[in-house]
Amino acid sequence: MKKILHIISSPRGAASFSIKLGNAIIEKLKAEYPGSTVKETDLVNQHFPHLEEAHLTSFFTPAESRTPENIIAVKHSDDAIQDILDADIIVIGAPMYNFTIHSALKAWLDHIVRAGVTFKYDENGAEGLIKGKKVYIAETTGAIYTEGPMQPFDFIEPYLKTILSHIGLTDITIFRIEGTAIPGIQDTAVEKGISSIILN
Ligand SMILES: Cc1cc2nc3c(=O)[nH]c(=O)nc-3n(C[C@H](O)[C@H](O)[C@H](O)COP(=O)(O)O)c2cc1C
Repeated sequence: MKKILHIISSPRGAASFSIKLGNAIIEKLKAEYPGSTVKETDLVNQHFPHLEEAHLTSFFTPAESRTPENIIAVKHSDDAIQDILDADIIVIGAPMYNFTIHSALKAWLDHIVRAGVTFKYDENGAEGLIKGKKVYIAETTGAIYTEGPMQPFDFIEPYLKTILSHIGLTDITIFRIEGTAIPGIQDTAVEKGISSIILN
């Protein structure tokens, strides 16, 4: 039995390919680990806030000195980090918007990457402080990035691998539905992506 956190960052609801792919990953996880529970966080519909001065002020104010306003401001970040700490497995839906992740997912990342909380610097450099979690990324793209001329322009995979590893989430597997905008490929893209899911 595992605790699964499903992060959604597509605004497309029932039509979303990344939600479909994320759900397919979760179905396989539930089959592998009966009794698993899922917490779903929809960053777009929940209007996860972009990082503003109030958040930063609160991050850099020691907990015991925070004002009531600081405490409200830091809650998005604290709750999002707690969700990660509570989970064994994190499934992140990552639709491609303009060659990278949706800004709602970037906002969430900006709130969970916190000096002294999820990573620290010491004489050896940066160390991620979240240990022992598995991450699956459900990446969906209109074009194809695993081969061919567009390959250098997938900024999602290198970015997510870098930022998640920075906070200690180093065990990352990416599954994709790609070519959803390409005639001749789009008809089989979903089936191909879902059948590529092999848990590790
Ligand atoms: C505003 C917008 C920007 C997009 N930008 C790209 C892009 O840069 N590259 C790409 O391959 N597909 C792009 N797409 C296509 C989406 O990545 C594709 O539809 C994907 O399935 C979206 O995932 P979702 O269905 O979960 O929302 C874009 C789609 C929209 C609506």
